[in-house]
Amino acid sequence: MNHDSARAQFAAWLAGRRLRRLAALTGAGISAESGVPTFRGADGLWRQMSMAELFTPQALEERPLLVWQLYDELRTRIAATEPNAGHRALAALGRQRILTVITQNIDGLHQRACNEGVLELHGTLWRLRCDACGYREENTQTPLPTLPPACPECHGVLRPDIVFFTEVLPRQALFGAMLASEQCDLMLVVGTSGVVYPAAGIPAAARAHGALLLEINPEDTALTGEMDYVIRATAADALPWVAAALAETGA
Ligand code: OAD
Repeated sequence: MNHDSARAQFAAWLAGRRLRRLAALTGAGISAESGVPTFRGADGLWRQMSMAELFTPQALEERPLLVWQLYDELRTRIAATEPNAGHRALAALGRQRILTVITQNIDGLHQRACNEGVLELHGTLWRLRCDACGYREENTQTPLPTLPPACPECHGVLRPDIVFFTEVLPRQALFGAMLASEQCDLMLVVGTSGVVYPAAGIPAAARAHGALLLEINPEDTALTGEMDYVIRATAADALPWVAAALAETGA
């Protein structure tokens, strides 16, 4: 299907709908066209065993320096990327309509595209925290010092403020995401395989509260069966025209 007919079909689907509040759940796929690898694709990060092995609480305890080095490498790699047309389209839509962006990504690209109020379910690469006292510090320095810094508030040591395997999600972001899913009329589900919970359960929660679900992904996902509308395209390709169509529907 070419762009024009995809747009026309989507506009016909939107016609007459009253979509006051919007939400978007994003995953690694929205950053793929910025050059950030996804987790489960052919070159996915989880195929690089060090990530799966080292981004765990156990590794942080037993091999803190290796975890720190890998974290530094990932930050350096992602600092060299830029937001793409998909991030920018969501940021523009957020200035025109009520839109809550809920992301599983830790890359900070939504914020760099000037999207405000993004809920980061899995934390961010760009903040450090102390598990001993809860101290947090924004930090974009690359490269990092070779040793993890001491906490300025207590005897602790700073660590990445990202959710490692088996760790719980930040309560405030999860609460905000549940609230947005209960209140929205339409949720865009962009670039996520939909297999990691609790994030993968958010579209179902939105649907249970009456929201329509729209998927943007070049491939089928675990969530496709729950969708009301599916756009089989990349985020940078589809989001600019999807966002423009949603902006036009007004409140
Ligand atoms: P995945 O790597 O599991 O899935 C990426 C999705 O993006 C797939 O469905 C792809 O088809 C899709 N995709 C690829 N390129 C795309 C493009 N250009 N535009 C749109 N979609 C594209 O990534 P996530 O679903 O984000 O958690 O993974 C969820 C969580 O699993 C991550 O946040 C991470 C990981 O364990 C933690 O680190 C806690």
